[in-house]
Amino acid sequence: MTVLEAIQKSAEFLGKKNVESPRLQVELLLAHLLKLPRMKLYLNFERVLTATETDSLRELVKRRGQREPLQHITGSTSFCGYEIAVNRHALVPRPETELLAELGWQFFNREGRRVGDPNSGTATRHPSQDIPTALDFGTGTGCIAIALAAKCPGAKITAIDVSTDALALAKENAARNKVAERIEFLQGDGFTAFAADSKFDLIMSNPPYIPTAEIETLQTEVRDFDPRAALDGGADGLDFYRMLAAQAKQFLKPDGKIMLEFGDGQADAIKRIFENEKWIVEAVKEDYSQRERILTAKI
Ligand SMILES: C[S@@+](CC[C@H](N)C(=O)[O-])C[C@H]1O[C@@H](n2cnc3c(N)ncnc32)[C@H](O)[C@@H]1O
Repeated sequence: MTVLEAIQKSAEFLGKKNVESPRLQVELLLAHLLKLPRMKLYLNFERVLTATETDSLRELVKRRGQREPLQHITGSTSFCGYEIAVNRHALVPRPETELLAELGWQFFNREGRRVGDPNSGTATRHPSQDIPTALDFGTGTGCIAIALAAKCPGAKITAIDVSTDALALAKENAARNKVAERIEFLQGDGFTAFAADSKFDLIMSNPPYIPTAEIETLQTEVRDFDPRAALDGGADGLDFYRMLAAQAKQFLKPDGKIMLEFGDGQADAIKRIFENEKWIVEAVKEDYSQRERILTAKI
């Protein structure tokens, strides 16, 4: 069977299994198998697959047909250009979350708070001479903490998660991206792991925000493969925002900020939760699909 025939046959199979964008999915699987950039497949359409390659592709396509996420099958994904290993213990990083990470490093690297340009190799000190600090609450794969550490070489990041399995993965990802020495990983439920006088310039989180009853209605790839603890935000999906609005203030420096990702249609409720706790909501930013996605607030 040629590369082109394998793509066509497998895409037809995945289409019947209701997998979204079936042809793209097959191309990504085949590119992974043949260790080629996807675009190179187009130059190899007439190449005949070996028997081993055909068997391996069949196995990968079968798994995708059972709705296992592509990233679980290939073992990794890209987040802000950094390679992040994924498994069943942590949420697969989403493209929307890249925007949250970007807002975080812009906050650190903007005028008066510059903590180093990874491209120039220079690191300007924070005006207070303190090392700027950030907390990634609910780190999962570690994607936000890792992007922040990599883009802000002068900053120190703390990453917390309730799941020890997710933390093991996050540590592996930090090492893979050579930022392990600047991220402290803590296991804990909420803020319980922190001393009362711990203070951060920036608290970031993409907390679980799916209302419990909606979890059953999610795509199979999400419902059956992302960990429940990464999805379940309580009856109305807002439990973590109430907790963060009530408790995060104590851990923020006076001119610090909190930046939070949230789900579709949750912006107004979350804004109210924070304003009721006397936060100043500075902005609600949209994602690339023009959906309100990130709230920034200060005390
Ligand atoms: C939606 S996932 C986000 C993962 C990652 N930050 C990202 O954006 O891809 C939420 C994370 O919060 C963690 N989590 C859930 N409950 C927690 C709690 N009570 N304390 C700390 N972390 C918690 C979950 O284990 C999960 O890794």
